[in-house]
Amino acid sequence: MRVFTVTAILLALVARCTADPVLVPGGYRANSDNIHEIPAGGSLARVGSKIRILAANGSVVHVAPVGAATKPKSQLLSLTSRFVSGWVAFAFWHNTAGSPISSFATMWEVPPVPATNNGQTVFLFNGIEPSAEDAILQPVLQYGPSGAGGGAFWAVASWYVGPLNTFHTTLVPVSAGTTLTGVMSLIGSNASSNAFDYTSEFTNVPGTLLNITGIPELTAAVETLEAYSVTAGTDYPAGETRFANVTLRVASGVVPAVGWSLRNEDAADGFNISVEVDGPTDAQVLITY
Ligand SMILES: *[C@@H]1O[C@H](CO)[C@@H](O)[C@H](O)[C@H]1NC(C)=O
Ligand SMILES: *[C@@H]1O[C@H](CO)[C@@H](O)[C@H](O)[C@H]1NC(C)=O
Ligand SMILES: *[C@@H]1O[C@H](CO)[C@@H](O)[C@H](O)[C@H]1NC(C)=O
Ligand SMILES: *[C@@H]1O[C@H](CO)[C@@H](O)[C@H](O)[C@H]1NC(C)=O
Ligand SMILES: *[C@@H]1O[C@H](CO)[C@@H](O)[C@H](O)[C@H]1NC(C)=O
Repeated sequence: MRVFTVTAILLALVARCTADPVLVPGGYRANSDNIHEIPAGGSLARVGSKIRILAANGSVVHVAPVGAATKPKSQLLSLTSRFVSGWVAFAFWHNTAGSPISSFATMWEVPPVPATNNGQTVFLFNGIEPSAEDAILQPVLQYGPSGAGGGAFWAVASWYVGPLNTFHTTLVPVSAGTTLTGVMSLIGSNASSNAFDYTSEFTNVPGTLLNITGIPELTAAVETLEAYSVTAGTDYPAGETRFANVTLRVASGVVPAVGWSLRNEDAADGFNISVEVDGPTDAQVLITY
C-alpha cells in the first residue's frame, strides 16, 4: 500500500513535470494549471493582486494571482519549421488621444480550413493591451488546438491573457465563410485607481462575452495573425484575411487620429500585411498568406 502510494505520488509528480506545454494566444504555458475557463454567464473581477472568477450568480468560484510574467511574450519558437512562431504579422495603434479607448470593433470572415493539418495552431484576432504590454483582452478566432480546446476546425472564444493566468470563454465552433464581429468595450472605470471594466465578445456568436472589471487601462490596439507549429504553407488558410470595419472610439467622443503601423515577421515566406484603408473608422488591414 505504502509502496503503491509512493509510486503513485512519484508518477503524479513526473506527469506534472513532463506535462506538455499548453498554448494560449501569446505563447506556450508550462501546463494547464493557470488556464481557466469562465463559467457560462460568469465574469472576471480584478481585486488588488488577484483575479476572481465569478459564476453567473456572482459567487466566487476561483481566485488566481495576477502574478508577473515568467517569460517574454514571444516564447518557444518551433524548431521543426522555418516558419515564424508567435505574432507573424500584425497592425498596431497606441492610444494618444488623451481619453481611454471606449470601443474597438473589427469584422472579418472565417477563412477556409487549411489544406493540411500538421498540428498547427492559427489565431486571428483584434485585441487591446495595457501600456505595460503584459496582458491582452481579445476575441480570438482559432484553428487547431489551444488551452481552450479545439482541433482541425475554426472556433472562437474571448480571452484575457495575463502575465501568469489566462482566462477564456468556452470555445464555440464556427464555419468557414461566417462573418465575425469582434468587439471590446469599456463599460466602467475609476481613473484615479487605474481600474477599468471591459467586455470582449463576438457580437454574433452567443457565449463569447467575457466581462472583466478592475484592470489597468487598455491602451494599445492590435490586429494580429499568430501561429505555432506551422510546417508548410498549406498549414495556413488559402487566400487572405481582411480585417475590415476596424473602428476605434474613445470615451471623450472626439474621433481619434488613428494611423495603423505594421509588422511582418515572416515576409520571407510570402506573408504580407498592408493597410488598405487607414483611420479611426471602417479601416481595413489585409493579410495575404
Ligand atoms: C452560485 O453558482 C455556483 C456555481 O454554479 C453554485 O455552486 C452556487 O451554489 C450558487 N450559489 C447560489 C447562492 O445560488
Ligand atoms: C476610485 O478610486 C479611488 C482611489 O482608489 C477611491 O478612493 C474611490 O473611492 C474610487 N471611486 C469609486 C467610485 O469607486
Ligand atoms: C459585467 O459584470 C459585472 C459584475 O462583475 C456586472 O455588474 C455587469 O452587469 C456585467 N456586464 C455585462 C455587460 O455583462
Ligand atoms: C463597413 O465599412 C464600409 C466601408 O468600408 C461601410 O460602407 C459599411 O457600412 C460598414 N459596415 C458595417 C456593418 O459597419
Ligand atoms: C506588401 O504590403 C506593402 C504595404 O504594407 C505594399 O507596399 C507591398 O506592395 C505589398 N507587397 C506585395 C507583394 O503585395
